[in-house]
Amino acid sequence: MTADTARPRRCAVVGLGARAQLFTQALTGPHADRTALVGFCDVNTHRMAVHNDWLAADRPGREPVPAYAAEDFDEMLRRERVDLVVVCSVDRTHDDYIVRALEAGCDVVTEKPMTTDADKARRILDAQRRTGREVRVAFNYRYNPVHSAVREAIAAGEIGEVGSVHFEWLLDLRHGADYFRRWHRDKANSGGLMVHKATHHFDLVNWWLGTEPETVYAQGGLFFYGDTAGRRRGHARPYTRAHGSAAADGDPFAVHLADSPVLSALYLDAEREDGYHRDQNVFGPGVTIEDDMAVLVRYASAATLTYHLTAYAPWEGYRVCFNGSEGRLELLVEETTWVRPDVRAEGSGPVMHGSAVGEDAGRTELLLRRFWERPREVKVATGEGGHGGGDIRMLADLFGERTDAPDALGRAADATDGARSLVTGLAANRSFETGLPVRVRDLLDV
Ligand SMILES: NC(=O)c1ccc[n+]([C@@H]2O[C@H](COP(=O)([O-])OP(=O)(O)OC[C@H]3O[C@@H](n4cnc5c(N)ncnc54)[C@H](O)[C@@H]3O)[C@@H](O)[C@H]2O)c1
Repeated sequence: MTADTARPRRCAVVGLGARAQLFTQALTGPHADRTALVGFCDVNTHRMAVHNDWLAADRPGREPVPAYAAEDFDEMLRRERVDLVVVCSVDRTHDDYIVRALEAGCDVVTEKPMTTDADKARRILDAQRRTGREVRVAFNYRYNPVHSAVREAIAAGEIGEVGSVHFEWLLDLRHGADYFRRWHRDKANSGGLMVHKATHHFDLVNWWLGTEPETVYAQGGLFFYGDTAGRRRGHARPYTRAHGSAAADGDPFAVHLADSPVLSALYLDAEREDGYHRDQNVFGPGVTIEDDMAVLVRYASAATLTYHLTAYAPWEGYRVCFNGSEGRLELLVEETTWVRPDVRAEGSGPVMHGSAVGEDAGRTELLLRRFWERPREVKVATGEGGHGGGDIRMLADLFGERTDAPDALGRAADATDGARSLVTGLAANRSFETGLPVRVRDLLDV
């Protein structure tokens, strides 16, 4: 990224949906002195206007951020003299904006997943090398203090050499179901949960262990959501989208956009421009992603990973256990302990997205069990803000003052890290199709 200078970097955000607010608030609030927000770009002009309304409400008198249609992206970079592009659009579109931004001489911060297939990942890696510009992938989970504590314990040799990792991630019936209502339900948009969601988790394992994946075998399918499973278990109700459908009343799996001012503004009122429905029936047709996935990975370090992602659990959180040559490290995080059936939309913001802790949150426990010693709990102060305090720390690292001291935790993720986490998910998707193990470098040599 450009060296620190007196002039604030000029930053544009592409994709002004829900996630973009994290960046627009940071760039007009705590990080405004170093990075100026100078452009919005989206296919939907209404959503850009909503973000400008929110900024004006927070800071009366502020000039609106100039808003550009998607086809005017290059024009925006030129006219607004953009130095840095934050890519926050639908996953399948990331590569196009990243490559065009790099070629225009900009640095890039991209939301995860960096992209959705191997060809797109190659284009990004090539463009990054060719231009010498910087790509940062917004892996906020690396900045969660409890995840940092895991990395520190492993790096300090507390459990010796890591032989294997056992990792289970549960998405509850509120957050998990949400992937089946939105654009994510089409694998072409998101790469499925192996890419869209598990990219976080595969990145954490790469980073915790300081290694990279070599071989992946996986089995997965649509067990709970979708029309076939919904009919079979009697969950299915006769509606396509919840808004305006009497059949969706009382459906605990429905989200009611009109009940939430935020969801109405961002999606319901924006539909006339792009016809996008954010409240589709999770038991309706057209779901092409999996909801239950089992993955076995072998790493360059010779460690193995057994990983399971379930999108229909009664509670949300994860367990990760590291088996080492001198002991075992066990992490338990309960983000919710149960899900109420009667939340129509009010829990649909950061809580639904798993980026904030809800009222039914449970506990976090990190336990070190060294050979021949009593178990010892590693105390970790979790921070405020989304993703266990990870979001705030990541924003400070991305947009705050740069220091010469290297980050001992090595949390900054670049395009290679983005590709290495992506490729595990891509290999898992390939293995779902073929039933065979996949050599990672046959997909993407990174
Ligand atoms: N790191 C995290 O924890 C986290 C959390 C949530 C979302 N995300 C990521 O943020 C991104 C956005 O997710 P979201 O939840 O805000 O989705 P969203 O549906 O709310 O917003 C997506 C936006 O992209 C726009 N868009 C669609 N096609 C486009 C195109 N061709 N060009 C420009 N804009 C286009 C849409 O109009 C919409 O405004 C995704 O990549 C997602 O993975 C990351």
